Amino acid sequence: MEQFHPDIKDVLLSEDDIKKIVSCIGDQISTDYEGKNPLVIAVLRGAFIFTADLMRAIKTDCEVDFMAVSSYGDGVKSSGVVRIIKDLDTKIEGRDVIIAEDILDSGLTLSYLIKALGARHPKSIEIAAFLVKDIEGKKPAVTPRYVGAHVPDAFVVGYGLDYAEHYRNLPYIGVLKPEVYS
Ligand code: IMP
Repeated sequence: MEQFHPDIKDVLLSEDDIKKIVSCIGDQISTDYEGKNPLVIAVLRGAFIFTADLMRAIKTDCEVDFMAVSSYGDGVKSSGVVRIIKDLDTKIEGRDVIIAEDILDSGLTLSYLIKALGARHPKSIEIAAFLVKDIEGKKPAVTPRYVGAHVPDAFVVGYGLDYAEHYRNLPYIGVLKPEVYS
């Protein structure tokens, strides 16, 4: 039997599940953006692994750039405060932009980013969210065009997602044992 990290309570998505999900999003983007050379923006750090895999799953011409924002610090709850720590190197005026996000929780981070990037007059902005967290009675502040999978309202790690910078290297998505962060 495969051994998972001792801090992981449950595995929600295996490596195989993740491969299928990313390939499916890649296919949709390849069809929708044929001949458009979209700019895929990875929101660091969480989306770096998803973006690397997604780029390889997109079969049409595309480019990549990176942004870093702070939203969570080392905690587990959204602070609502978003700061651009690293900006794009690419001009996005007139470009088709796809923001690749690791997980959509409240959506506050992306709603802020869309406003900030929208002011630069891209041709279009869409979101590809690898995960969307389902929170009862709450709707995220933005609606992603591409969604990999929905996860329950728990703190998840792996495949780029961290808790206090740990667990990003786990190749699967797992629920962190609450005792690790409480
Ligand atoms: P939002 O602004 O509430 O949508 O938060 C989005 C960001 O918070 C994500 O890009 C992640 O970096 C982080 N985040 C939210 N939920 C989780 C989680 O369950 N595990 C790890 N990071 C998370």
